[in-house]
Amino acid sequence: MVEQATSRIVTGQAVSKKMADGQAVSKEITTGNREWSPSSWKSYTALQQPDWPSSDALDSITTKLASMPALVMPADVHRLQDELARVATGNAFLLQAGDCSESFDEFSARAIRDKLKVILQMAVALTYASGLPVVKVGRIAGQFAKPRSSATERVGNTDLPAFRGHMVNCELPDLLSRTPDPQRLISAYNQSSATLTLLNTFSSGGFADLSHVHSWNLEFVASSKQGKRYNKIANEIDQALRFISACGIDMDSVESLHRVNFYTSHEALILRYEESLTRNDPFSGSWYDSSAHMLWVGERTRQLDGAHVEYLSGVSNPIGMKVSGSITSDELIALCDKLDPDRTPGKLTLITRIGHTKIEDLLPPLLEAVKQEGFPVIWACDPMHANTITAESGRKTRRFDDILEETKGFFNAHREVGTWPGGIHIELTGDNVTECLGGLDNLAEDQLHLRYTTTCDPRLNARQSIELAFQVAEMLRA
Ligand code: PEP
Ligand code: CO
Repeated sequence: MVEQATSRIVTGQAVSKKMADGQAVSKEITTGNREWSPSSWKSYTALQQPDWPSSDALDSITTKLASMPALVMPADVHRLQDELARVATGNAFLLQAGDCSESFDEFSARAIRDKLKVILQMAVALTYASGLPVVKVGRIAGQFAKPRSSATERVGNTDLPAFRGHMVNCELPDLLSRTPDPQRLISAYNQSSATLTLLNTFSSGGFADLSHVHSWNLEFVASSKQGKRYNKIANEIDQALRFISACGIDMDSVESLHRVNFYTSHEALILRYEESLTRNDPFSGSWYDSSAHMLWVGERTRQLDGAHVEYLSGVSNPIGMKVSGSITSDELIALCDKLDPDRTPGKLTLITRIGHTKIEDLLPPLLEAVKQEGFPVIWACDPMHANTITAESGRKTRRFDDILEETKGFFNAHREVGTWPGGIHIELTGDNVTECLGGLDNLAEDQLHLRYTTTCDPRLNARQSIELAFQVAEMLRA
């Protein structure tokens, strides 16, 4: 019932001499039948790259990054891969969640702690309902770059470079703020490193204690009349914990009840950054991207002959790929073949973002095609990105009910085809923001302006996120 996780994230500070030596290795490796190197992506078209004002300045920054310690260690990347293999075979569930775009300005221990708190609360409800371990991966400690539909934005009478995330520029609408600054790559690295250190402390200390997390969930259920509908699951968890105790098991001495494995991920968008943090694992001889445990390729950069897919095809990290309803089965199979040529269970997570009105029509043929070709992928549902609407005020928002509807459609599609609905991928924050509509507190359009702080897409707030987890828990049970 409760997962047996015993290890923790290891940060770059612990980099060994052997690993530092490994950084110098720049040999090419063979994946499939072709040569791959950390820079082989440069022979392909790289979409969504910033227009850096000086290539010399960029080069000197990336040289510096290449000499800096790895942010994550190969052993932890491999452990995540092992955990994801269990998801792929239907023996675990994946919860991937965090900011749309992390901010340099809202960086604090409190914000990180609260984000982890909500993810842990969601995981407990999901673990109990599914009876399976929940693999916890944050969109955190590196999620600083955003793809944009247009390279420029019209502000007044001028076209400014689009905001591309704090790894690249600043959202303020003036030319200086919007000019890409390579120094920001170093800031992103430093903030990622500090975030990893905090996550490590919080996930291995008393903060992640199962009984704490459970008591937060009880508070959530008791906090409103509507929340009481989740009483049943919360009470059952309560009884299960009492039962363990009554059996004479000393909960204080069971380490796995006091700590969790928590992993990091982000969209591998800015390829000069990812390349600079690519390291050779001297133990396995393989390359891995040391900027995060898991990386994904976004909907706008997943071209089969594109630079992003080329880069991600050569690193040993688990890889995610966003999949919209516009993909064809043939295209999807060709991408699976390039990103997971060895067909390793859990190596590739297909993160579908199709839209609540279309998912039940468009997902089943994709599930069938991948099943037929025998790719042992994880299917995860991103019910956020195809359900974004613009409110009358002009703010981007999402309806809680649409998010729920897409998630239900995802479960239904898997039931129809006989495949495992392996996980969910959510944009959320631990703060009490007012960015998405609906949920238990019935957030209305005229409340959006109250605490709308995202630098990019609208996120579920803490209460909406926990409510979604309880709803998904009910779906997992059904
Ligand atoms: C995102 O995850 O923030 C994102 C931009 O998603 P997508 O690539 O699916 O549009
Ligand atoms: Co987003």
